[in-house]
Amino acid sequence: MEYYSLGKQSPNVNFKTAAITGQAPDKGLYFPTSIPQFTSAQIERFKTLDKAILAFEVMKPYVGGTIDDASLQQICAETIHFDFPLVPITETISSLELFHGPTLAFKDVGARFMSRCLGYFSKQARAENTKPSTVLVATSGDTGGAVANGFLGVEGVEVIILYPKGKVSPIQELQLTTCGQNITALEVEGSFDDCQAIVKDAFMDAALNDAYNLTSANSINVARWLPQQLYYFFAWQQWVANHGDDVPMNIVVPSGNFGNICAGMMAKASGLPLGHFVAACNANNVVTRYLQTGNYEIRKSVATVSNAMDVGNPSNFVRIMEIMQNNFDHLKNVLSSYSYDDIVTEATIHRIFKTNNYILDPHGAVAFLAAEEFNKPAIILETAHPVKFPEVVERAIGETITIPESVQFLLDKQKVAIPMGANFSVFKSWMLNKGTA
Ligand SMILES: Cc1ncc(COP(=O)(O)O)c(C=O)c1O
Repeated sequence: MEYYSLGKQSPNVNFKTAAITGQAPDKGLYFPTSIPQFTSAQIERFKTLDKAILAFEVMKPYVGGTIDDASLQQICAETIHFDFPLVPITETISSLELFHGPTLAFKDVGARFMSRCLGYFSKQARAENTKPSTVLVATSGDTGGAVANGFLGVEGVEVIILYPKGKVSPIQELQLTTCGQNITALEVEGSFDDCQAIVKDAFMDAALNDAYNLTSANSINVARWLPQQLYYFFAWQQWVANHGDDVPMNIVVPSGNFGNICAGMMAKASGLPLGHFVAACNANNVVTRYLQTGNYEIRKSVATVSNAMDVGNPSNFVRIMEIMQNNFDHLKNVLSSYSYDDIVTEATIHRIFKTNNYILDPHGAVAFLAAEEFNKPAIILETAHPVKFPEVVERAIGETITIPESVQFLLDKQKVAIPMGANFSVFKSWMLNKGTA
């Protein structure tokens, strides 16, 4: 298996190079040269297969021999080492809870897989005496925590996280700033966009690239994007156990950059018998409008209460079009999209808490609304625990949310972050003088 650039101007690479470099030299996203096809006998076997073995079998073709089987088995087992329960909310809508990982977010799966792959490749780099990887990541909250936790203690990989001062929730900040070891948090005096601009400049800077083997850990990296397929397999296992084969499992995904839903569509394209996909969006609704009008019109993002979906130009949509062979009619048969404003989102958190005793996070609430509008049996992906968005959720339900036991230990930890101006030259001189260049 190789990967080609959707920019079409760069040579094909293997999984290792795609994972280490993140993006192709022509700035295109990498896409597999062929989508693995599971036979109906394999799919039948998948119904009851152990999760870790299933994960290994799904990921093996994508990794294409760049990681030996025993190591890949271990990477997969560690990646999915928590629960993915499908919990009924109403008679027709169930929630696939993707927040039972260490940082209470779906990103744990991608971050854990990617970190362990880079750890494996970094061991090879040490043996070959080449430079280890330095992961740079800008975060508005969730990505940083998942990446920090996923990479913590991974030998030979250093992680530097930039986050905007005062703009992440208390739990998110503790997740970012209390790891120590190979994880460094930079508290940037600016916005998320400032953090992202610094990271982008760093990837273009000759001196920094000379000193470090820089890697990004955002969702365009194949090693973060592709393992997201796994929980669609796990959801389907639970769905067929409850509903049998005849009721299609329709899937509503709260979408921003469209990496998550695109991973589900890859699973379907490889033979997993999934139903219809619905992309649930907030006011940032370029895809909703595209499906209605046929015009793909990117816009500047606007701030909403489901802020992880505040994306005006979804980077992974180009991959969805590639799966659909750029055929708009084909796309419309597989994918629908609805969008909602903040008022109805908060009202839905309140309503579902009162009527169904279920606490949705703002992203899950947007998905729930879309599932109601879609009006057929469906699952929604609950992408983060509501405790990660306490301001919105507590306002909506009128109660304090209990912090899950699994993260309570963070409350006793001391935040350690390096203050940094929102300025690339300050960041660059810090990088070049910090002692590991
Ligand atoms: C909680 C949450 N829900 C949904 C999304 C949207 O996922 P995607 O960007 O893959 O569409 C994100 C992305 O950051 C997120 O953090």
